[in-house]
Amino acid sequence: MNVFLTRQIPAEALEILQKTCRQLEVADSEIPLTIERLQTGARGRDGILIMGNDRADAALFDAAGNQLRCISNFSVGTNNIDIAEATRRRITVTNTPGVLTETTADLTWALLLAVTRRIVEGDRFARSGSWRGWTPTQFLGADISGKTLGIVGAGRIGTAVAKRAAGFNMRVLTFTSRNTRVEFETLLRESDFITVHVPLTPATKHLFGEKEFLLMKPTAYFINVARGPVHDEAALVNALRQNRIAGAGLDVFEEEPKIHPGLLDLENVVLIPHLGSATIETRRRMAIMAAENLISVLAGRPCPNIVNPL
Ligand code: DGY
Repeated sequence: MNVFLTRQIPAEALEILQKTCRQLEVADSEIPLTIERLQTGARGRDGILIMGNDRADAALFDAAGNQLRCISNFSVGTNNIDIAEATRRRITVTNTPGVLTETTADLTWALLLAVTRRIVEGDRFARSGSWRGWTPTQFLGADISGKTLGIVGAGRIGTAVAKRAAGFNMRVLTFTSRNTRVEFETLLRESDFITVHVPLTPATKHLFGEKEFLLMKPTAYFINVARGPVHDEAALVNALRQNRIAGAGLDVFEEEPKIHPGLLDLENVVLIPHLGSATIETRRRMAIMAAENLISVLAGRPCPNIVNPL
């Protein structure tokens, strides 16, 4: 097996690859590779283990050559891969479902609590030396208990978010793309908090735009931990600036790592750099799963995480 790995990954997973591969190149980079570096690294490989922000398309497959048999994605989302083109070329694509579900659900709640209880603003203020003591009207946020949570995308992660809502005695509304637009609009109108967990597809791109933010309550909060292009970032900035919604918590952005400059000036948003699955335990599990997926496919063994059965 001749394999290219586009980033350093946790040691245990690296060892799995080192033990099994005849040839293994690990890109020595902590940041996303340029297209040129990705293509050079791919040349002549049987398998490539890529990150969710490495693009795998016809150009990469051409650069790799006809022997390429597997793209293993270190991510559950596969919007970075041209699956149809991979399938046409009989390249198996795998991903890492399940292992990051609880961790991403936790992060959703961390963002929701942080923005509604003004944790980041409060932290900045506490450090600034400006605090003169407790007052009844300082940094007032919003209660969560007993309110309505709208979950957009009720798959594994959305369901795990809903389970946690039971602890806050919340009413939960859910929407998946299989439901109707009417149900989506009801969720927009009635939710106090909306969390987003849909995959990025042509159907979910800009699912949240001007019109959707207008339908939300002016006291509602928007939380996206799925993929940035599911929201229209300029429309979100306008909605926040004009107080058409109360706040937002974002783990993902339309053009990562760029963040709309309008978001940076706002106090009622919490912004974090795509940390949904970022715990030691989960990144270790994802790495092992991605390494095992790649080896199973290249060895012709059954693999449970194939996105495009050939
Ligand atoms: C995922 O697995 O989809 C995470 O967002 C990391 O890309």
